[in-house]
Amino acid sequence: MESVSIKNLKFNYAAINILNGVNLFLDKGDMVCITGKSGEGKSTLLKVIAGLEKAMSGEIVLFGEPVKQSEWTALSMAQKGIGFVFQNDALISDLTVRDNITIPLRYHKMGTEDEIKQKVDRALLLMLASSFADEYPYSLSLGMRKRVAIARSWALNAKVLLLDEPTAGLDKNSRVNLLSLVDNLKTLYKTTIIMVVSDLGVARDLNSKISFLIDKKLTDPLYFDDIKNHENLRIRAMLG
Ligand SMILES: Nc1ncnc2c1ncn2[C@@H]1O[C@H](COP(=O)(O)OP(=O)(O)OP(=O)(O)O)[C@@H](O)[C@H]1O
Ligand SMILES: [Mg+2]
Repeated sequence: MESVSIKNLKFNYAAINILNGVNLFLDKGDMVCITGKSGEGKSTLLKVIAGLEKAMSGEIVLFGEPVKQSEWTALSMAQKGIGFVFQNDALISDLTVRDNITIPLRYHKMGTEDEIKQKVDRALLLMLASSFADEYPYSLSLGMRKRVAIARSWALNAKVLLLDEPTAGLDKNSRVNLLSLVDNLKTLYKTTIIMVVSDLGVARDLNSKISFLIDKKLTDPLYFDDIKNHENLRIRAMLG
C-alpha cells in the first residue's frame, strides 16, 4: 500500500525557488535516504512534507488520501501520521525524558492516563531509553537524545518518520545503535522512513535506496551498488 505520494512539489523562500518539481513515492514500510549538497533544500523538503513550510504547488497523497492545500499545516500532517525529527532534536530541556514523550500525548488527548503511560513505556523500550527515562536531556549524549526524539515521534503514532541527518555528530557505535533501532521500527511497525543523510555509508548499511536532491528535484531512488555502476557519470560522481 502506498503511504506517501508526492508529485511536482514546488517551494520558494520569498522569490528564491528551492524545490521545483519534486516527486517521491513510498510504500508502507519503505525507506529512502535523501542526500545532496549543503543548501540544496533537503531540510526544506522535509519541512514541507511535515507542513512546517507550505509548498506553492504540487500534490501530496498520504495513505491513499489526497491532502488538500489547506491541510498542509504541521498539525494536520502530524494528525495524518507524519513525524519529524529535527536536525537538532528539539527536546524540552526542563522536562525529563519520560515527560518529553508523555506531555505531547496528553496534549493531544491520546488516551487515558494509563494508556498514555503504557504507550510511553513501549516507546522507551523500543528506543532503548527506559534506563534513562527520569534523566534530563542535558545529561544525555547526542545519540541518546536522538533516540528520545524518535521515541516521542513514534508514541505520537508517526507512520511516516522524517529524520534529518539523525547520525550527524555521532561516533561509530552510537551511529550503528541508532540505525539498528530505526531499522527495527521499520520492520516491527512498517514505519515508512524518509531520512536525510550526508554519509551514504548509512544508506548502504541499512540497505536503503538513495535519492539525490539535485537541480531542485529528487532522482529516482536507487541502491548504493546500482549507483556505483550507474551509466550516468553525474550520478556516479555523487558518491564522492
Ligand atoms: N527560513 C529561510 N528563509 C530563507 N531561506 C532559507 C530559509 N531556510 C533555508 N533557506 C535557504 O534555502 C536553501 C535550502 O536550505 P536547506 O536548509 O533546506 O538545505 P539543506 O540541503 O538541508 O542543507 P544542509 O545540508 O546544509 O543541511 C538554502 O539556500 C538556505 O539558505
Ligand atoms: Mg539540512
